Amino acid sequence: MAISAPAGIPERVLEATERAARAGFENSSEPGIGRVLMTLAAAVRPGGRVLEIGTGLGVGTAWLIEGLASGTDVQLVTIESDPQRASLAAETAWPAFVRPIVGDAVMEIGGLGTFSLVFADAEGGKLYGFDLTLAAVEPHGILILDDMRFQGRNPMIEEGVVKARRQILADERFVCAEVSWSCGLLIATRVR
Ligand SMILES: C[S@@+](CC[C@H](N)C(=O)[O-])C[C@H]1O[C@@H](n2cnc3c(N)ncnc32)[C@H](O)[C@@H]1O
Repeated sequence: MAISAPAGIPERVLEATERAARAGFENSSEPGIGRVLMTLAAAVRPGGRVLEIGTGLGVGTAWLIEGLASGTDVQLVTIESDPQRASLAAETAWPAFVRPIVGDAVMEIGGLGTFSLVFADAEGGKLYGFDLTLAAVEPHGILILDDMRFQGRNPMIEEGVVKARRQILADERFVCAEVSWSCGLLIATRVR
């Protein structure tokens, strides 16, 4: 059964989606995943922090902002290693609570503290450096991984996905749910 999503895409998401299309960037989060991101972001506690690994052209960022917009004293850190993508993404006027970082997530995460919600959507921090991402989730925080289904990608990427999946399912700090819908989601809550 598909997850139903109410119609209507927020303006800032449309803007980022159109920018991604103009740039020929095809790896943005699709609307169903975006709504999951928005919904989880809306549950972030006052003073909470969100981390997106892999800004891309800012589509996922825009969904997260929508969820956080009514939050109190929240922060959204989004990391992108490709400077050109980072600067295109930042063409949208983001709220002051967004902190974009241009760099390799694997080099950056260790110095950023912990987060209530982590969306790991880049090779770095997921297919390698996954330990750092797990450590960045605060107790009672949530980690969301997408692109967990086999999609006929490069075998190295598939191998990395299998390894990350195996690692988190065996990690006693997390309880996990796998949702084999869309590109495949794994949602994990840190319980200790
Ligand atoms: C799947 S796209 C991100 C899509 C975006 N999160 C969204 O929801 O629309 C992955 C992005 O991660 C970036 N990336 C790859 N390795 C990275 C790394 N080590 N650190 C930060 N960004 C990285 C890529 O340049 C690419 O833009």
